[in-house]
Amino acid sequence: MIKKITSIDDLSIKEINKIADDAIKFSLNKKKTKKSKVRNIFNLFLEPSTRTTVSFELAAKKIGHNIININFDKSSLSKGETFKDTMATLVSMNPDALIIRDQSEFSPRDIYNNHKISVINAGDGKNEHPTQSLLDYAILKKKFGNKKITIGICGDIKHSRVAHSNIKLFTKLNYNIEIIAPNYFLDKNNLLKINKNIKYRNSLNNIDNLDVIMMLRIQKERINKNLKSSVASFKNKYCLNMKHLKSKPFLMHPGPVNRNIEISDDVLDTYKRSLILDQVEMGVYTRMACLEYLF
Ligand code: NCD
Repeated sequence: MIKKITSIDDLSIKEINKIADDAIKFSLNKKKTKKSKVRNIFNLFLEPSTRTTVSFELAAKKIGHNIININFDKSSLSKGETFKDTMATLVSMNPDALIIRDQSEFSPRDIYNNHKISVINAGDGKNEHPTQSLLDYAILKKKFGNKKITIGICGDIKHSRVAHSNIKLFTKLNYNIEIIAPNYFLDKNNLLKINKNIKYRNSLNNIDNLDVIMMLRIQKERINKNLKSSVASFKNKYCLNMKHLKSKPFLMHPGPVNRNIEISDDVLDTYKRSLILDQVEMGVYTRMACLEYLF
């Protein structure tokens, strides 16, 4: 069967746990990579990326696969070739898998349906970013085991693919989810379709019940012009500072962080229970586990 990870919906709880457990074992040096055939993987990034693209490349290399990086400027898309023609060209070279980040929602799923090749979604517009959620879960599972934790997610939920994948995944895990966001960054109707039991808050005060606070980036590139002024009002009310962290929850953020908009400098530079760089490191192990899942 040709496998794909285009959405959290593609994976059963059992598969999600296998990927997280493998990632944790890789991180503890308790798992050797499987001796499998050398595969050819295309790593196509049509939006900016540091962590995700490098971690996929490193993960593939650690397992012994060939990985070829392609971005917009290096591809014929920049010469005016259509997306459809570029895809047909790449698929003609018979890659074993395509990792893709694209601004169009659902394009990873469409490529899988049209070309019947293994696809990993590395972020499709504001829709989903399933491997980010898997790595976030691997971190949480390593810290909390199977405990049903309470996690607060704060920021631009509406435009964030990380929020959408994480809310799907945390719902499957029966975590208590609390969303902390102003109305202009909320897509409540969409969230209600995923989970009716989410708790909503409009401030970061009194979050002592949270085991984890996850801050998310304001997606400036996806916000329309009349929401631009909301960045300033968000920053005034929702920027995480030391006062909010008295009960010492773990702190997560997928990066990149807008300093002093989502998280204050002192929290970023000195807060001891920040997991932000652990997330980056777990990203490599989780993507190794995802590639082993595909093949
Ligand atoms: C996220 C993304 O690209 O969606 N970054 C990442 O992959 N670590 C989050 C973001 O850009 O806000």
